[in-house]
Amino acid sequence: MGILIKNGTIVTASGRVTGDVYCDEGTVAAIGVNLERRGAKDRVIDASGQYVMPGAVDPHVHLALPFMGTVSADDFEAGTACALAGGTTTVIDFVIPSRGVSLLEGLREWDAKAKGAVSDYAYHMSVTGWGESTAEEMRAVVREKGIPSFKVFMAYKGAIMVDDHELYQVMKAAAGLGAVVMVHAENGDAVFNLQRELVAAGKTEPKYHAASRPSPIEGEATGRALMIARLHGTTAYIVHMTCRESVEALARAKAAGQHCYGETCPQYLLLDDSVYEKPNFEGAPFVMSPPIRPRAGGHQDALWAHLGSGILSAVGTDHCPFTIEQKRMGKDDFTKIPNGGTGIEERLALLYTSGVCEGRISLERWVDVVSTSPARIFGLYPRKGSIAPGADADIVVWDPAGERTISARTHRSKCDRNIFEGFKVKGKPSYVIAGGRVQFDNGDLKVERGAGRFVRRESAGAPAPGMRAVPA
Ligand code: URP
Ligand code: ZN
Ligand code: ZN
Repeated sequence: MGILIKNGTIVTASGRVTGDVYCDEGTVAAIGVNLERRGAKDRVIDASGQYVMPGAVDPHVHLALPFMGTVSADDFEAGTACALAGGTTTVIDFVIPSRGVSLLEGLREWDAKAKGAVSDYAYHMSVTGWGESTAEEMRAVVREKGIPSFKVFMAYKGAIMVDDHELYQVMKAAAGLGAVVMVHAENGDAVFNLQRELVAAGKTEPKYHAASRPSPIEGEATGRALMIARLHGTTAYIVHMTCRESVEALARAKAAGQHCYGETCPQYLLLDDSVYEKPNFEGAPFVMSPPIRPRAGGHQDALWAHLGSGILSAVGTDHCPFTIEQKRMGKDDFTKIPNGGTGIEERLALLYTSGVCEGRISLERWVDVVSTSPARIFGLYPRKGSIAPGADADIVVWDPAGERTISARTHRSKCDRNIFEGFKVKGKPSYVIAGGRVQFDNGDLKVERGAGRFVRRESAGAPAPGMRAVPA
């Protein structure tokens, strides 16, 4: 059965046009005007007054992640269902082998978990240590497993943090493979010291999480990671950027001709550190790393400016929720609160409301940062992130007149808190088509456990049009 989407405003990262899209056998078959059904059973969707955009790609999620003594609350089935309901048709999760566990063993673990996925998914591979076989395993991960993006954590000392020697080796090996290295950029040794000092002073409540990771901690690590990447000619992608210091380091690297990328997340654009002042441990759902920043530093404004200018390339979610019960592991010591929050279902609506409706970014740039740019950077484009003949039929019909209030009472996540609780958002998906099937139909989510496919990637890090591939 084909799907004919009629009379919508087709919006891509590069422009908009009114027309029709016909999908058949899981791919986009035709784009034009006055298209007709090709089969008697074809479904026709009237998209008049609505936007027709490529399904969004979330480049940063953690589903069923074992972390800080517990496991993130949304598994692959729940997390990808949330994603679809919000207009995201592909997610990229991080395989994170515990330190000392091989990359390929980690991958087997993740494959078992991902069997329940209801949307398409891919992986980034985290390297959490350096041993004799790591370089060879990285080669196998890229060439045999179709995963050309790696991740390192410069924080979480004593767990998954890499030191500078390990960072150097990963960057060097990735450069040889033409792979991207994603970086959680915080100076983990400095965080460790600040945490010890705060706890020793009896400062154990959630708000001290933010005090233990001030913005220079992130700015320093971002600069260091970018310089080590520059040393080797590695394409670096700095994840979840939150502050002025780190985006300025990224801007400097780009100005010097370095091929690198930056990502931010809705929580860093929209929230401020007053969330940590909530009474009764209700600041804990906002405990994530890096933390949410104060308004006073101009961090949120800097992120918006750099998102508009193109210095920041993508908006992911870092969706890694923990229930309040899980967060209570750190009720007497903020360093034991599992780090992470929600976002996978709300990303598009939050960015549409505060970005497009409030005039900070164009409609096309919105499509770019939530879909096309992550697809392009991580080697999914043009199969994902585009509406073009031959692309996967992953399409969102977006109703700009839709409105809702975000709440943990109505979200689909298994988490009992939502960090955007009470936000009134404009715009919502009316239809979400993934893999050529209508999976979300005006609030009705119809998913099939295990229907999501692993998307193998041949390469990553391709420069966007007009961007230099090789440093000047
Ligand atoms: O607090 C966060 N961000 N939790 C998820 C793990 C990570 O650092 O991305
Ligand atoms: Zn991180
Ligand atoms: Zn993350």
